[in-house]
Amino acid sequence: MSMQSTVTEIFDGPPAKLADTLPGVHELIRARWSPRSFSSRDISDRDLKTILDAARWAASSNNEQPWRFLVARKSDAAAFEKLLNLLVPANQAWAKAAPVLMIMASKRTFSPSGSPNRFAMHDTGQALAHVFLQATALGLHAHGMAGFDAERARKDLHIPDDYELGAAVALGYLAPPDQLPERYRDGEISKRQRKPLNELVFGADWNQPVSSLISSE
Ligand SMILES: Cc1cc2nc3c(=O)[nH]c(=O)nc-3n(C[C@H](O)[C@H](O)[C@H](O)COP(=O)(O)O)c2cc1C
Repeated sequence: MSMQSTVTEIFDGPPAKLADTLPGVHELIRARWSPRSFSSRDISDRDLKTILDAARWAASSNNEQPWRFLVARKSDAAAFEKLLNLLVPANQAWAKAAPVLMIMASKRTFSPSGSPNRFAMHDTGQALAHVFLQATALGLHAHGMAGFDAERARKDLHIPDDYELGAAVALGYLAPPDQLPERYRDGEISKRQRKPLNELVFGADWNQPVSSLISSE
């Protein structure tokens, strides 16, 4: 069976969360979204390792692989609390239910030259995209978070100066929206929004539209 049919068959989110894409966009991409309602069900070691291995295979400038993951499982209460406490309260409120929290860091310089890598965070973002898609393929969900105290994270997690802080991530299985504090419930079932392609795609000049790429056909 192709991956195309499997993903929508296992899609367990609210219908509005399935992305309203053009036909042909891969089902994995359609099915990925960022929930806040996580179940207490744990992630197996094998699935967690698979997700991190998918990230390992992201493309990067000069194959530098600047991404690093600091991972805390709820089964290790001290580690989990350490990461959870770094999140802003609005993220703590829902992320505390997830069985895995991560914080990403990105090496600012190329090894071994030490020259600045201006694509470090770009490539770290690609690794995160692999996490999102691999999690979706496994019936899991991941939610990125900018809302955490990066300065305190650097101190508490002993992240060296040569690494910039990337996103925090909550990872786990989906739970029904009513398990969330009330203020987050509407967001859990609302339609996902995107800018139209013509605001995102130009020809070989800034803002110059490419008619063949922006028509709705
Ligand atoms: C780097 C990054 C940081 C984010 N920070 C937060 C955050 O701090 N809190 C939050 O609730 N959502 C956060 N999000 C989730 C975005 O709001 C979400 O991806 C966006 O609204 C699109 O929704 P979708 O992922 O369901 O398509 C973040 C996402 C990314 C990729």
